[in-house]
Amino acid sequence: LLLHEQDEFQIFMKDFFALSGIDLHLYKRPQMERRLTALRNRHGYDNFQSYLSAMRNQPGLYDELLDRMTINVSEFFRNPERWEILSDYLQQSYKGAPLTIWSAACSTGEEPYTIAMMLEQLRISYQITATDIDQKVLNSAKVGTYQQHQTRAVANLYMDKYFRREGDAWRVEDGLKKHIKFEIHNLLGDSYPTGLDLIVCRNVLIYFTDEAKQKVAAGFAQALKPGGLLFVGSTEQFLHSEAFGLYSVAPFLYAKKG
Ligand SMILES: C[S@@+](CC[C@H](N)C(=O)[O-])C[C@H]1O[C@@H](n2cnc3c(N)ncnc32)[C@H](O)[C@@H]1O
Repeated sequence: LLLHEQDEFQIFMKDFFALSGIDLHLYKRPQMERRLTALRNRHGYDNFQSYLSAMRNQPGLYDELLDRMTINVSEFFRNPERWEILSDYLQQSYKGAPLTIWSAACSTGEEPYTIAMMLEQLRISYQITATDIDQKVLNSAKVGTYQQHQTRAVANLYMDKYFRREGDAWRVEDGLKKHIKFEIHNLLGDSYPTGLDLIVCRNVLIYFTDEAKQKVAAGFAQALKPGGLLFVGSTEQFLHSEAFGLYSVAPFLYAKKG
């Protein structure tokens, strides 16, 4: 039975790729299979074939799956001490030209807004492209409305400058938003931008297989300018990053040679 179910998941991954262009093989399987089986069961489908057929006619099911493939949670200034190190590093290396920045797998927008507030504070000019594979989180990122508890890591100084009260929630000011472009992008399928000064990509690489992760690392290295920086999550270090021309500045920060 187990063997049969595994084969079935293989077939599902193939058919899902045809439907979505998303290759689930590139994600760590046990975690992915567990999540998707639970979701499937919750809707009362006892095999992946019927679940996928239902998905073809019900966009809601598809959106939900995309939503659950990985966790979407984010925070402003997630791991604050690391943002401080990044901030120091940028301040030291800033040469006066506007920075071109990519916030990849940005979820609901806390990360690109954090980058923007930090750079405003440093008086560094910048342009951010913020991307995710999930259109739903991008829509919410664009609106930029957060509940009180979601903004607790944001210093009062920033709350006053960059947020406006809206009922019992807070909305990011347009002044900050105009530096950020939100776009859909699949890290495991779409081509990468080039000429970047900074890539921030945190808490998504942990879901990828080692092989996929190494490919992403090579892609990031290509996308950066010489001297450009790559900021990753705490448990997302790359093995042999020097092979791609990325050397480690801190455990979560890499710089491209040059
Ligand atoms: C845990 S959130 C990370 C949010 C933010 N970077 C942070 O660290 O707070 C993971 C995000 O990765 C996105 N994601 C998953 N697979 C992706 C892929 N192949 N390409 C781009 N984004 C992806 C999910 O939609 C989700 O929004």
